[in-house]
Amino acid sequence: MPLPKAELHLHIEGTLEPELAFALAARNEVALPYADTDELREAYRFEDLQSFLNLYYELMAVLRTERDFEDLADAYLARAAAQGVRHAEIFFDPQAHIARGVAMGTVVEGLWRALARSEDTYGVSTQLIMCFLRDESAESARETLEAAKPYLDRIVGVGLDSAEVGHPPAKFREVYQAAAGLGLRRVAHAGEEGPPSYIVEALDVLGVERVDHGLRCMEDEALVERLVRERVPLTLCPLSNVRLRAVDALADHPLPAMLDAGLLCTVNSDDPAYFGGYAGDNFDAVRSTLGLGEERLRELARNSFLASFLEHDEERRARYLAEVEAYEFG
Ligand code: ADE
Ligand code: ZN
Repeated sequence: MPLPKAELHLHIEGTLEPELAFALAARNEVALPYADTDELREAYRFEDLQSFLNLYYELMAVLRTERDFEDLADAYLARAAAQGVRHAEIFFDPQAHIARGVAMGTVVEGLWRALARSEDTYGVSTQLIMCFLRDESAESARETLEAAKPYLDRIVGVGLDSAEVGHPPAKFREVYQAAAGLGLRRVAHAGEEGPPSYIVEALDVLGVERVDHGLRCMEDEALVERLVRERVPLTLCPLSNVRLRAVDALADHPLPAMLDAGLLCTVNSDDPAYFGGYAGDNFDAVRSTLGLGEERLRELARNSFLASFLEHDEERRARYLAEVEAYEFG
């Protein structure tokens, strides 16, 4: 039995495995510029975040109907459950779909069909976090929030993703303020490729409660002290950092140093179909390559539930935390 954990940094579009991409392409009569899944996998050699994003957005062309989004989410939840995920807070990128003529309602209703039965089918509780694309305009983000208003009972919070450098958080001050006014929780990618100042800005200007990645905080001692003091969770994604070359090799990943510094770190998969593994695979990788001991792994699992947006159901959080404390490593 795998260690129970929450997944807090997972882009549902990044769970599109090559086999499903081809199946959906056939179903929707969408032509893909790859002969087969092997040739597609050959394209998974990324130089940086942008080279990944180019493929990530290209493959979204196969997602057209509610059923496509349902199948995508269902496939993810099955894999996540098998790797010990008990609770998943799932990002989605509506702007990337709306731009292709796929409505907000198609995306949310489709994902929801899978999420609504996830607890019964897989024993995984779920929440949805709607991300704004930071390389699109602030106006587009505002329109996206407006389009989401009929679905807010299904969306726990907002996030910020896509190409980071050159798109600092402050650009989205107003839309985050509006989101907070609607009762939405706030997170943002910061310090993946961007500088530590973007992390500070995400906290001070956007009021985020968790930082996605946050890796580059380690370059700013005062920022690390602040993140420790304020117990700001960081949703790290070790295999993603290797594939997108945020670190040279997994052995060089700062996760052990971050835990030693007292940061509230969590381990997540980001875009598991592209980066070589789901949540449990990321845990296994840091265990074997970074030599994290059982108590460090338990701490990461505990942190994942502490950092979850489960304030509406503290009993559930307590149950999950008790599972972590009772877990016996094999
Ligand atoms: N969208 C999907 N994955 C992402 C990542 N790792 N960083 C920024 N935007 C993303
Ligand atoms: Zn991400």
